[in-house]
Amino acid sequence: MHMHKYEKIWLTFGIGCLVVFLSVVGVSAFYLGNKPASCLTTINSEKVDQTKPFDKPGLHKVEGKDWDYELVFVASAFSYNPAQVKVPLGAKVKVIATTKDVIHGFEMAGTNINMMLEPGYVSEYTTTFDKTGEFLVICNEYCGSGHHLMSAKIEVVK
Ligand code: CUA
Repeated sequence: MHMHKYEKIWLTFGIGCLVVFLSVVGVSAFYLGNKPASCLTTINSEKVDQTKPFDKPGLHKVEGKDWDYELVFVASAFSYNPAQVKVPLGAKVKVIATTKDVIHGFEMAGTNINMMLEPGYVSEYTTTFDKTGEFLVICNEYCGSGHHLMSAKIEVVK
């Protein structure tokens, strides 16, 4: 089969790119251990209140982890528990959230924190709160007649 010189160059280039991209993804996933931010931690959605850490929603100081605090939220139609929480400025916080009933959202307005809370799954996001002020947490997944009333407040204080 005769192949034009440019065809060969393009074919080599294409296959080369494929090998490079797959290697990058492979090394990232299998060697560096990278995975999606929410890696399918499961929970029995009917026993959220009895399951750690959701038996004690709110902010908890933790020792010996890469983050200083854990901020635990339980969402249910149509509220978050806790409804209001204070976080010290500069704290590295792992937000851990789940829902007891239907799908809810967890969006911290004005930040890039935006999670979907699905029944049976735990959503997590680690961040540093480096701005003082009041942040509104809103539900951005339509969850029923009280959807627009569903909110919480995070106060970052000195
Ligand atoms: Cu919860 Cu919309």
